[in-house]
Amino acid sequence: MKITGFRPLIITNDAEAVIDMFEDLGFALRHTKTGIGENSDTNYVMKDSGGNRVYITGSESARSDLTGISINVDDFQETYDFLMARGFRDPRGGQVTETPSSRTTMLYSPSGFPLFITEHITDSPYKTGIIGAMKEEVDTLKAALTKLKTSTIAGMEFNEGKLNGKSVVVVQCGMGKVNAGICANTLVHTFGVDRIINTGVAGSLNADIDIGDLVISTDAVQHDFTVEAIGFKKGEIPYTGLYAFPADDELRAMARRAAEATAPDSKVFEGRVCSGDQFIATREQKESILEAFGGMCCEMEGGAIAHACYLNHTPFVIIRAISDKADDSEEVSFETFAEQAAKHCAAIVRYMISH
Ligand code: ADE
Repeated sequence: MKITGFRPLIITNDAEAVIDMFEDLGFALRHTKTGIGENSDTNYVMKDSGGNRVYITGSESARSDLTGISINVDDFQETYDFLMARGFRDPRGGQVTETPSSRTTMLYSPSGFPLFITEHITDSPYKTGIIGAMKEEVDTLKAALTKLKTSTIAGMEFNEGKLNGKSVVVVQCGMGKVNAGICANTLVHTFGVDRIINTGVAGSLNADIDIGDLVISTDAVQHDFTVEAIGFKKGEIPYTGLYAFPADDELRAMARRAAEATAPDSKVFEGRVCSGDQFIATREQKESILEAFGGMCCEMEGGAIAHACYLNHTPFVIIRAISDKADDSEEVSFETFAEQAAKHCAAIVRYMISH
């Protein structure tokens, strides 16, 4: 038995009043979903800037407000039996609310608090945004999606669907930081994703990191962002106090496991990703980035995705396959490497989503 989600839940027949109260406390309404079939309840998810969440169910049949804890579990029956054996009571005598994708019931603890248990049958608690840099990679993932729905925003094609039963939105954002920032923001606000994975190719900034190796972000910087003339540090984003945006620890660990499982012949490194609106192809450019920021690889989107995720309190990770040495030491191997990189990246993402 495993708990995969844990949050406060309020059931009320006056959802508007509860939503207003949480808005006053700094929460914003993130998702609304009206019940399926006979169930006319409406579920709301609210989130504050610290990432705290509250779930609110508006139910016309609720006689008074009921506040409890909602847990998502991987095995409904096992959890039910476990809790009943510990003295929980089932006021509905085994009656379960079923939708095509979930199974839920409410139990009372021995001391009387309500506990809602839900097993998502085909879904995970997360909706994941996947920003791929390469067409081949996005096409591979898109071909694997079920229940595909496509919409175009800002010239980008957002492909919504299920990947191995998990909710994802796959999109190719185009090159550069503006495209990447718009894309990440749209994934959060229009598609309601909870986390973002960015994959693609990158130039190596480190002699030990070779073409074909993989880099997983510990953090990301925008190496061409400079407001030094008026007193900020190189790369610092004014008024955030930050120049490097940290990647999410859990997504990093998932990415490492996925990279090791799906690309066993590639070396996997973890370190800083340096992004800018330039393709780095000279020793001088490379050294100037290294001197200012250190870092393991350079590319053109990750730093902006990291920045947008920071502003939206959304966890992210960047996974890059090395396509070139980011200098003039050899022919740029970018194009010849792209197809193989795309395959690696798609396999890593697919493994991450389904494990
Ligand atoms: N993507 C792949 N290689 C790159 C490089 N050398 N500079 C910027 N973006 C890249």
